[in-house]
Amino acid sequence: MTEARTQELAKLLIVDDLPENLLALEALLRDDGLEIHAAQSGEAALSLLLEHEFALALLDVQMPEMSGFELAELIRGSSRTAHLPIVFVSAADHEPSYTFRGYENGAVDFLFKPLDALAVKSKVRVFTELYLKRRELRRQLIEVEAAHARQEQLLAELKQTQAELQRALRMRDEFMSMVSHELRTPLGVMTLDQSVRRDRLERGDLAYFSEERLRAMVARDARQLRSMTRLIDDMLDVSRIQHGKLSIRPSRTDLGELAQHIVDDYTVHFGQVPLHSRIEAGVVGDWDDSRISQVLVNLLSNALRYGEGRPVTVEVGATADGQARLAVTDQGRGISAHDQARIFEQFERGAAAGNSPGLGLGLFISRHFVRAHGGDIRLCSEPGRGACFEVLLPMSGQPQSSC
Ligand SMILES: Nc1ncnc2c1ncn2[C@@H]1O[C@H](COP(=O)(O)OP(=O)(O)OP(=O)(O)O)[C@@H](O)[C@H]1O
Ligand SMILES: [Mg+2]
Repeated sequence: MTEARTQELAKLLIVDDLPENLLALEALLRDDGLEIHAAQSGEAALSLLLEHEFALALLDVQMPEMSGFELAELIRGSSRTAHLPIVFVSAADHEPSYTFRGYENGAVDFLFKPLDALAVKSKVRVFTELYLKRRELRRQLIEVEAAHARQEQLLAELKQTQAELQRALRMRDEFMSMVSHELRTPLGVMTLDQSVRRDRLERGDLAYFSEERLRAMVARDARQLRSMTRLIDDMLDVSRIQHGKLSIRPSRTDLGELAQHIVDDYTVHFGQVPLHSRIEAGVVGDWDDSRISQVLVNLLSNALRYGEGRPVTVEVGATADGQARLAVTDQGRGISAHDQARIFEQFERGAAAGNSPGLGLGLFISRHFVRAHGGDIRLCSEPGRGACFEVLLPMSGQPQSSC
């Protein structure tokens, strides 16, 4: 493209009211590598000037309607053509008496009739070369500016990548310390329990293992194992989501039954928090029941964890537009707009989390599960007024390729 532009011919404008003079000039300059445009009047010249960018204009001074000088003044008056070099072609006795007003503004020269072929050619060459050099400089300037702009853009992209990299590194470090901390707690309890049991056994103290104590131990072990298994499952799910390997296996599922089981289970384990359910019968669709259970468990455990011990409600129903609706509402401290914008991202925890255990993965995973069914999770909350997480699912949970 650059080459094509440099090879473009410089354009020369010749203006004379006599066609024979134009022909003579064209014949004289034809072989000088110029694109020649001829005009027989000032007006015709002005319309050519609107269309083309000229390297030089050769103006006959004496023309009937608009003299060469008048035309030159108009040329100088327009910002587009103000710097066009002008050579007046005049009879020798006319030029000195005329003071051309635009003279100081740009290159002006004179040729006198009868025209000397060599003088014409050399003047035209000097102006044309000047023009071509200027044009090349302008082109280079544009290229430099474009390169500069590209450089700035690359720099901005680099800065952004660097910031993202730093965030990723920070997240990795935080993640490592969170995971170790989360695993340490149940492992610590189990290690302690295990060493107490081993000591008792070594001392032959079988009385220590009363039925009541054994039951408590088994329950504690189950709790610690559940919390570690959940942590590892969450991490595996995140990895599946990140690698686009999350798969869902829809089967005929009664959402009300599924929710009721989970609510009953929670009532047994967390009986201290009032748990209400408003479950419509017959909300049946094609969903991956284990994934949807996981979503409800995540929302419910959040409501119990962050709901400040106040009643929690689980609802199942259908929306007016025929989607299934599963909602978990609590009356806890609520979620600020700032937190709402980020808690669905991985490892993001809001103000309510404090120092409580958790990796900030539950909502991230849940939203992916629901979206994989073609649905979505909506959050409605205000600080101090509790939170309502609403899951909307199309009745047939079409697997979505985006997850
Ligand atoms: N019902 C709620 N009320 C107030 N804040 C909530 C509620 N549910 C979630 N949050 C906020 O959103 C954050 C993200 O929740 P999410 O379930 O993703 O992670 P987590 O509960 O912190 O940890 P994890 O679920 O991985 O154990 C929580 O840390 C909490 O700050
Ligand atoms: Mg959670």
